[in-house]
Amino acid sequence: MFKDLNEIEIIPKPQSFISKGTTLDLRNILSISLQNNSVEEKYVAQLFKKFLAPINSIPILRKRAAKDSISINLSSDPKILEEGYSIMFEENSFICIEASSEAGLFYAFQTFRQLCPLSLEINQIPRNTLITAYDIKDFPKYKYRGMHLDVSRHFFKTSFIKSYIDMIAFHKMNVFHWHLTDDNGWRIEIKKYPKLTKNSAWRVDRTHESWKDWAPIQKHEKPTYGGFYTQKEIKEIIEYANQRKVTIIPEIEMPGHTSEVFASYPDLSCHGKEIPVNPGSYWPNIDIFCAGNDKVFSFLENILEELINLFPGSYIHIGGDEVDKKYWKTCKKCQNRIHQEGLKNEIELQSWFIKRIEKFLLSKNKKIIGWDEIIDGGIAKSATIMSWRGYSGGKIAAKAGHDVIMCPESYCYFDHYQAEPHMSPLAIGGNTTLKKVYSFNPIPKGLTKEQKRHILGAQGNLWTEYIKTEDLAQYRVLPRMTALSEVLWSGQGSYPFEDFYMRLQILQKRFKKLRWKFAPGTFSVSIITKIVQSGITVNLISEKPDKEIRYTLDGLNPIHKSKKFIKKFTVKRSVIIKAALFYKKRAIGEVSTKHVKFNPVS
Ligand code: ACM
Ligand code: ZN
Repeated sequence: MFKDLNEIEIIPKPQSFISKGTTLDLRNILSISLQNNSVEEKYVAQLFKKFLAPINSIPILRKRAAKDSISINLSSDPKILEEGYSIMFEENSFICIEASSEAGLFYAFQTFRQLCPLSLEINQIPRNTLITAYDIKDFPKYKYRGMHLDVSRHFFKTSFIKSYIDMIAFHKMNVFHWHLTDDNGWRIEIKKYPKLTKNSAWRVDRTHESWKDWAPIQKHEKPTYGGFYTQKEIKEIIEYANQRKVTIIPEIEMPGHTSEVFASYPDLSCHGKEIPVNPGSYWPNIDIFCAGNDKVFSFLENILEELINLFPGSYIHIGGDEVDKKYWKTCKKCQNRIHQEGLKNEIELQSWFIKRIEKFLLSKNKKIIGWDEIIDGGIAKSATIMSWRGYSGGKIAAKAGHDVIMCPESYCYFDHYQAEPHMSPLAIGGNTTLKKVYSFNPIPKGLTKEQKRHILGAQGNLWTEYIKTEDLAQYRVLPRMTALSEVLWSGQGSYPFEDFYMRLQILQKRFKKLRWKFAPGTFSVSIITKIVQSGITVNLISEKPDKEIRYTLDGLNPIHKSKKFIKKFTVKRSVIIKAALFYKKRAIGEVSTKHVKFNPVS
């Protein structure tokens, strides 16, 4: 059910809003006034000023504006929830914006922006300067609203990282999980270990081939594909994110997904052999850090020390996923470690590894996040778990009193297909449609109220084995991150998919203005049948509620004059159902077919 009868065409949809039934002419806004003249108010005032500059040069005043002119009034109200805000349109006088934090004022600006004409997004004077007036009270359902990006499998320039952060902030999300290291390239400058960026950041260029077919580097070839971020660039990006209320969580993988390190520092593996960076030729990568070698820990601590000095956030992600422990089983040093530490097996050795790193990071006032495999063999006491292999890791961790970030593959992996594979750019697999993401409930079933509090939120993950270009990266996340943003801000189930979908059609015009690529989604029709006493009910479902579904029961392809699907119906005999989506009398997408069979009565 809708929460309100009046409409607002923004995403994520606010917790509550009332249309005032009036409009405001943006040309009449003559000032931005600040209640406290605080740094936060000044900062957000500048955002409003810059955004509205094509219409008016609006002064920022340190006091309340004169009564007879319209002013955007920024002020603080400590009673408003963290990150929440309120916007009140007082007719012909003030647009009062209140929040208890800079983030709240920032999100009020993001809301205001979506109420404004599109051309302001590209600093152009709009033809129509009227906007609808609302009173809005808003706050996020979850405090962790993240997006991940793998820059190892394919490297992305700093300009793209900034635009990714823009997209995160636009959607009122607040975490960028930066997957900086993996088997296919090390991407962060570490001053103490220059070989990591000299050697481990580079692999042979196979971008013209498909990921899994990539041949390993040949003798005569040079590793020319790759790149890395200098610490100077990273500082610049952290500042950029900070201005947009986005915290960056850097990830350094360990003990697995680390084979690229051995192109530079081979003595840190169990076998000690130098191996060139894998250009995506094989899986799994069995070359991992030797857990029995103390040099590995001083190496990692030195790297983490540099990270700690760069990233101000409280979390460091230490990976921990998909560790193939083959070499640990036969490595003398690893087996010695198991013996000395009284561990049962290699699974406990991984847990010991993570706990040792946890201890180091805690001594530096940082908390660890790890993929849900770090539960196995015993969870490090203070670890936050990122639940990707479904819901179970999150459930186990929350029950054990750990904080959890949910990103189950089937809802949150945006490297999956979102439409029929044969009609889409090549992806890693899966099928995670927009509608599926919108139906995502971040809370695992079976948790108590207290345990549910440990679910901090969720994030969308973008692994980039099959994403070579910036355009494709945007296409993969949009509009699925838009659906996720509403789940995390407004709450899953707060609004029907059809309502979200119609608002998305409007938002996508803004994406176009911003030159953000987005996927059209799936045009297929799902034919859902269910046996009931009177026969078999048929439901036809599509992701596009603004298009018609037409169908036949005689095996012929539907045409624009075929029966229009309105609601579920029952069949009582064998039929071949064919259905397709129609727009302006033309079939779009493919015809779906299902045979419904009744056994002849004997
Ligand atoms: C993962 O997808 N391996 C965390
Ligand atoms: Zn070893």
